[in-house]
Amino acid sequence: MKRIAIINGPNLNLLGRREPEKYGRESLEDIQGWLREQVPEEAVFLRFFQSNVEGELVTAIQEAADFDGIILNAAAYTHTSVAIRDAVAAVKAPAVEVHLTNVDSREDFRRTSLVAPVCRGTISGFGKYSYLLALHSFFYEPVAC
Ligand code: DQA
Repeated sequence: MKRIAIINGPNLNLLGRREPEKYGRESLEDIQGWLREQVPEEAVFLRFFQSNVEGELVTAIQEAADFDGIILNAAAYTHTSVAIRDAVAAVKAPAVEVHLTNVDSREDFRRTSLVAPVCRGTISGFGKYSYLLALHSFFYEPVAC
């Protein structure tokens, strides 16, 4: 049984209502329910967490320290938070950074990710499928290139 924590940052609680042309019309609960349906419950335990508060995200990452993986959409904190980056670097669990939108095709400030260098990889631009692709990544051995 793999244990994966899916951690979402600020304003992602507003999914479905927040700029739907960018982020889609599904709520975070819809996406979380859909993700649960994509994986056999006897094989994968999913823990979902969302907060608008930086320190609570740090604590959630620490609490997932011994999980098999962390899927992290730190939202705006991706671009600013040393504390979240340090938390990802501090824990044993490998993390994958995800974004619903393609952050590289948006404003310049979104091209900087403080968490990317401490993550196993980044998946950006595939809407809710970004989370599913990240989930799949934990079932592959990392490839040395
Ligand atoms: C986001 C992209 C971030 O730049 C933005 O601040 C978000 C959402 C995404 O999932 O596309 O809140 O992480």
